[in-house]
Amino acid sequence: MPHQYPALSPEQKKELADIAQQIIAPGKGILAADESVGSMAKRFNQIGVENTEENRRLYRQLLFSADERINSCIGGVIFFHETLYQSNDDGVSFVQMIKDKGILVGIKVDKGVVPLAGTNGETTTQGLDGLSERCAQYKKDGADFAKWRCVLKISETTPSELSILENANVLARYASICQQNGIVPIVEPEILPDGDHDLKRCQYITEKVLAAVYKALSDHHVYLEGTLLKPNMVTAGHACPSKYTAEEIAMATVTALRRTVPPAVAGVTFLSGGQSEEEASLNLSAMNNCPLGRPWALTFSYGRALQASALNAWRGQKENESAATEEFIKRAEVNSLAALGKYEASGDGSGAASQSLYVANHAY
Ligand code: 13P
Repeated sequence: MPHQYPALSPEQKKELADIAQQIIAPGKGILAADESVGSMAKRFNQIGVENTEENRRLYRQLLFSADERINSCIGGVIFFHETLYQSNDDGVSFVQMIKDKGILVGIKVDKGVVPLAGTNGETTTQGLDGLSERCAQYKKDGADFAKWRCVLKISETTPSELSILENANVLARYASICQQNGIVPIVEPEILPDGDHDLKRCQYITEKVLAAVYKALSDHHVYLEGTLLKPNMVTAGHACPSKYTAEEIAMATVTALRRTVPPAVAGVTFLSGGQSEEEASLNLSAMNNCPLGRPWALTFSYGRALQASALNAWRGQKENESAATEEFIKRAEVNSLAALGKYEASGDGSGAASQSLYVANHAY
């Protein structure tokens, strides 16, 4: 049966596919700087900085004032609503600063997780009400892509069928609304690393979750070439006694993706999920050297693994701003190499870059 009611015109499809391709061009990935006010409180707390609007502005300013070295490493930056309307000390809007580097602007559009009653602590993500109107406004204000994060948990009894289906459906509905407004949706079904499960169990669950997500995207007529997937890497649970190499993690992850993610999807931009900066870079490089066919770009959309050293160097002090910006540039360059499969261990296992960034039951 031919498709009688096309969801998008050829022009709309071209715009979406072009945006997606620009974000994941070779050697480029995404800076996830969309921490909510509550997430910033946790980050600032660790470095003794008060969580005020001005301090959040100063911190984002030091990231966004990175020089042209990041232009070939970063294809997109995800903003939080507040950040989209802030400016630097000279009055240049953050959106303009990012666009001037040839980098695309993204916006977090979900409104956080809420409990699914009657489950073992599982959640869905809210924010569909008024989403179309918000997307239309964000597009006018400079955003070309969006992010929506769903969370799934691995335990003896989870994820339940209900949470897999509900989260897949809400991601598909979000993606459809974004595309109608010229916004490329990043589809993020994050499976948390909490638990003592092994690599095989994470791979199995990741396959089940991704298969449900792509069934729902198909049901909702989402144009896959104009989407990006933001999955967890397949890793063992944080409390698993067995340790796995980057090559084993890469093999499990690419196998799971090959079984479930259609080649039409523009690109896969992994979250770092509490891995150390160094681990996240080594694992990404291993993915891009994995001896299996990979029809999509495999790159990064890191929050913690691009920012931990920068935050640590800054500590809220004006005199540390340029050192902090340098730390961010260093991670952007390393991950750009990793996205090309060209990053090898720095040999320094002792510095801040090797410290775990794991937070139990992480919210964003
Ligand atoms: P992490 O890389 O810190 O896991 O966060 C990325 C993100 O945007 C999660 O939604």
